[in-house]
Amino acid sequence: MSKEIVFSGIQPSGEPTIGNYIGAIRNWVDIQNEDKYTCLYCVVDMHAITVPQVPKDLRKHTLEMLSALMAAGIDPEKSILFIQSHVPAHAELTWVLNTITYMGQLNRMTQFKEKSKRFEEASINSGLYTYPVLMAADILLYQAKYVPVGEDQKQHLELTRDLAERFNNRYSDTFVIPEPLIKEQGARIMSLQDPESKMSKSDADENAYILLLDEPDVIRRKIKRAVTDSEGVIAYNDRQKGIKNLINIYSAFTNEDVETIVAKYEGKGYGIFKEDLAEVVIEGLRPIQESYKELINNKDYLEKVYKEGAEKAEYMARKTLRKVYKKIGFIPR
Ligand code: AMP
Ligand code: TRP
Repeated sequence: MSKEIVFSGIQPSGEPTIGNYIGAIRNWVDIQNEDKYTCLYCVVDMHAITVPQVPKDLRKHTLEMLSALMAAGIDPEKSILFIQSHVPAHAELTWVLNTITYMGQLNRMTQFKEKSKRFEEASINSGLYTYPVLMAADILLYQAKYVPVGEDQKQHLELTRDLAERFNNRYSDTFVIPEPLIKEQGARIMSLQDPESKMSKSDADENAYILLLDEPDVIRRKIKRAVTDSEGVIAYNDRQKGIKNLINIYSAFTNEDVETIVAKYEGKGYGIFKEDLAEVVIEGLRPIQESYKELINNKDYLEKVYKEGAEKAEYMARKTLRKVYKKIGFIPR
């Protein structure tokens, strides 16, 4: 029996943060290393252009993201690692799915509502609007059963399932109905400056996030400045959201559970905890940063990886697209 398929995507929108790493990338690596699934991991440049991009930066960020994924442990010998625009079937299936998607459904997408607030009503592009349909195509093309994503992508997954079911009902069984894989504990890393909002590289305050490639001194400084509270006790609760977030980060990098960490710092101050946390993060990121520096300077190897990835992905995608075209009544060439 062939293995079940896992698919996920990440936008090449600048440098990844430890939030992306803990909430998404590391999870992808763990799933890959279970050796149970065929994993496809995709750098979604076509999604990225739904907001304004500077072409040379997009090119740069796409290769950076590819390198970061490999540095974090995605192994192109084990997983199919590729760039979305290299496989035209993504755009082709999107068109078909657009014709079975209701505008009412897209109007309800919270991410669209959030993102379109940044633009004048008259200049909201329709790609931003149909973004979730492209995402559905990404997933359905590969007959993916599991889709590791952050909490914020759940609604898009529900739409994907709905479109798959609608197509299957209208034509006959074609698509596997995918399920989200969402990690609950510590899955959302919050801003170091405002623990009510998620850590994001688009934050105006650079002290709010730690980048995967931040230098040790930068990491020390950012953690030192992280917002805490005046209770002065290291405890894991929703009154102390800042400390809670720092404990989650500590736990993510050491694999120690929350109780162990709280017990370890009983009676100790925030200063000591933060100093230790900084070292934990620095040590955790060190191997990734070293590997990244080698990869990003090896353009030939990167090219080999994304070409081979695209070939494997293309093969799988074409198979689904051929089926879809046949079912909807297109004449094969
Ligand atoms: P984005 O950077 O928003 O394109 O997100 C890429 C992936 O990282 C998605 O799966 C997000 O859910 C995840 N992610 C982004 N920021 C965080 C965060 N602060 N904590 C946990 N996961 C995150
Ligand atoms: N929209 C996702 C995000 O912003 C990225 C993405 C695109 C994705 N296509 C996907 C995630 C397919 C999972 C599966 O995080």
